[in-house]
Amino acid sequence: MARTPESSSPRGAKRGRRVLTVLIALVVPALIVLGALVAWRSSQRNAQPADSDLLQHVHHYGDENGSAATDPIKRGMYLARAGDCIACHTAQGGKPFAGGLGLNTPFGVIVSSNITPDPQYGIGNWTGAQFLDAVKNGVAPHGKLLYPAMPYNLYARVSDRDLLDILAYLKTVPAVAEAPPDNQLPFPFNIRLMMFGWNLLFFNPTPFHPNPSQSVEWNRGMYLVDGLGHCTACHSGKNALGGDTDYLQGYDLEGWHAPEITGNRYTGIGSWSDDDFIAYLKTGGNRFSVAAGSMGEAVSNSTQYLSTADLKAIGLYLKSLPGSGLSAPQPVAATDPAMTLGSELYRTNCIACHKSNGDGVDAMVPSLANNPGVRATGANNVLRTILVGGRGAATASNPTSAQMPAFAWKLSDADVAAIATFIRNSWGNAATAVDAAQVGSLRSSLKAQSFAGTHAP
Ligand code: HEC
Ligand code: HEC
Ligand code: HEC
Repeated sequence: MARTPESSSPRGAKRGRRVLTVLIALVVPALIVLGALVAWRSSQRNAQPADSDLLQHVHHYGDENGSAATDPIKRGMYLARAGDCIACHTAQGGKPFAGGLGLNTPFGVIVSSNITPDPQYGIGNWTGAQFLDAVKNGVAPHGKLLYPAMPYNLYARVSDRDLLDILAYLKTVPAVAEAPPDNQLPFPFNIRLMMFGWNLLFFNPTPFHPNPSQSVEWNRGMYLVDGLGHCTACHSGKNALGGDTDYLQGYDLEGWHAPEITGNRYTGIGSWSDDDFIAYLKTGGNRFSVAAGSMGEAVSNSTQYLSTADLKAIGLYLKSLPGSGLSAPQPVAATDPAMTLGSELYRTNCIACHKSNGDGVDAMVPSLANNPGVRATGANNVLRTILVGGRGAATASNPTSAQMPAFAWKLSDADVAAIATFIRNSWGNAATAVDAAQVGSLRSSLKAQSFAGTHAP
């Protein structure tokens, strides 16, 4: 059908007006933000960090507990691992710290930088002050504003000494004379100045402040979680522009669900003992759960290297958080048709590894009972694992992690929904039922195999 001029021109004008409105909406706040930011940045330079005995103890907790050497380079290596710098700054199959990994963000694909000591392509010529400004304030040399895909908003809590030791370590890794590929960002997000606005809205440059009514150990946990550990990057909710919301109460990212990790006993880790928590981050699994996906990588690259003292501190802090207050819903009745179908399919497909009582095999096949990830509000992890399978974290203590086979070819959307509903509502679990449409949309977004069978349930 041909478009008539009568209908297209008002629409065109309307579109023109809309573009103008959008431009004004972008430019005016940008100008306001610019002014405010200049004022804010100068005040921020004068801000003094809290200076107390407690702060000193928190910063030196690792040293005091023998977990990190006093040698700045060794200390820096430990802290760079705690910050998992290597995960984002290394491309798939690329050289360590040479950058080039593309990160999906609400703005588009942002490519990580080369942070090896190469003087041209890396940070070999950077001074300590330049490094601190980039890592804590998101401002690289020559005023280049970084995108918050680099978690400077969290690293702002890290002490200068810790970061300067990380720099000392990074200057010892092999230099790589290669520039990473360019970002793929649409207008206007390709304008780095836009980050002025983002920073004003979401960047809280307050240095770490210990809570004097809590122990050194608890404060050490908060320091690592909110700073180098950047746990909130995956475990906290996000608004449309990537700002954090709902502190550590769970978040869906790239087809995974990073569960709530507060003291909530149902969707969080409130019922995990210290040893359960330490085992998960040190070895990649415990009697409830096995770390897979991006958490598997975080365990392999980062948390397995943390000292027991630091891991215990992290667990102590997380378990003290009240969290979402979510509690168990009414479980789906065992007589529900989805439950009976699910139970049958579970018996034929899953029981060999996960056992009839859902218990699994310690640190190898995760328990489906008592596993907060299984009964999380978002069923994505469960569905994803059933569709495409998975593998646990490889760590020094568990170098050949166990694998979960993919079932996408073998089970229809309705089958997967029934099994998921069944495991989310058995052995003391209770969680919302899953429907076939949810499985179908995840199947297509994951580009998982389609159902090859025709079996009658
Ligand atoms: C979650 C992913 C992520 C983690 C973790 C991360 N970075 Fe980054 N980093 C990035 C991205 C992406 C960029 C590029 C940002 C841009 O181009 O605006 C970047 C940029 C940088 C830059 C600026 C380099 C330049 O040439 O402009 C430095 C320095 C840096 N990171 C250091 C670190 C250190 C040190 C750590 C560990 C403590 C770390 N990063 C951890 C994603 C990450
Ligand atoms: C890059 C994203 C990412 C980061 C960073 C991250 N996590 Fe996770 N985490 C996940 C995902 C995804 C899962 C679910 C993994 C699974 O089910 O196998 C998870 C699972 C967990 C679990 C298991 C919870 C359960 O109910 O089974 C714990 C505990 C945990 N993370 C703690 C942490 C801590 C502590 C930090 C910071 C030091 C952290 N995570 C940083 C993505 C992340
Ligand atoms: C050959 C053994 C094996 C079989 C069969 C198997 N699993 Fe698994 N499963 C594993 C292993 C190993 C893991 C840990 C790796 C991972 O999380 O990706 C796992 C992980 C899972 C998880 C993720 C748990 C978590 O902590 O996030 C779920 C859910 C799950 N399996 C459900 C099922 C269901 C449902 C079936 C049957 C359709 C099944 N599994 C069949 C071995 C198996």
